[in-house]
Amino acid sequence: MDQSVTLPDMDPCDRPELARYCGRVRERVSAERFDHIRRVVRLAEAIAVANAFDAAERRATRLAALLHDVARDLPSEELLRLAPPENVVEQGHPLAVHGRAGRAIAVGWGVDDEQVLEAIEGHVFGVSPDNRVGVAVYVADVCEPGRGVNDDIRELAMRDLRAAYELAVASKVRYLRSKGTSIHPATLRVYEQIAHGT
Ligand SMILES: [Fe+2]
Ligand SMILES: [Fe+2]
Repeated sequence: MDQSVTLPDMDPCDRPELARYCGRVRERVSAERFDHIRRVVRLAEAIAVANAFDAAERRATRLAALLHDVARDLPSEELLRLAPPENVVEQGHPLAVHGRAGRAIAVGWGVDDEQVLEAIEGHVFGVSPDNRVGVAVYVADVCEPGRGVNDDIRELAMRDLRAAYELAVASKVRYLRSKGTSIHPATLRVYEQIAHGT
C-alpha cells in the first residue's frame, strides 16, 4: 500500500450520522464489497480534508461514499427494476445501472441532498466537475488503496482534486477505447466537459 497518503484512522460506521445506514448497506453487499466501501469513505474523507471542503461538504462526501455501491451486488433483475435501462450500453450490461439503482435506494431511505444523489449515481460514469462531493467520491472509488492501482491519481487528489478527476476520467476513456468497449454517453459527456474546461 502506498504510504504517502494516510487514510483517517476511523471506522465510518462509528459516526452517528452514518451508523444508521451501515447495517442497511452491509446486508446488501458482500463482505469484500463492504470493506471496499469503508476504504472509499476513509479516502474520500482524506481527500475532502486535503482540499479544504467545509463541514457540510465533508458530511455529504462521507454519506455519498458510504452509499455509492449499495446496489453493486444486487441481482440483475433487481438492478433493472430499480433503474430501467436508458440506452444500449445499459441494456447489454445491467451492472452499468448500479449507480442509478443506488440513487433510487438512497431516495427510498430519505436522502434528499441532490449533490449526494448525483455523487451516488455518477460514481460509475462521472459527475459534473462542479460537484466536488461527487468528484471526491468518484476519485476515491477508483484509487482506494485496496485496488492496488492508480496510486498516481491518489497522490494527485491530495494536492489537486480537479486534476486527479481529469486524469481518472481520461484514463478510463483511453482504456475503454483501447479495448474497443462501448463508452457510456454520460462518461463521454463528462470527458467533453473536462476537455472544454466547463
Ligand atoms: Fe460502483
Ligand atoms: Fe466502488
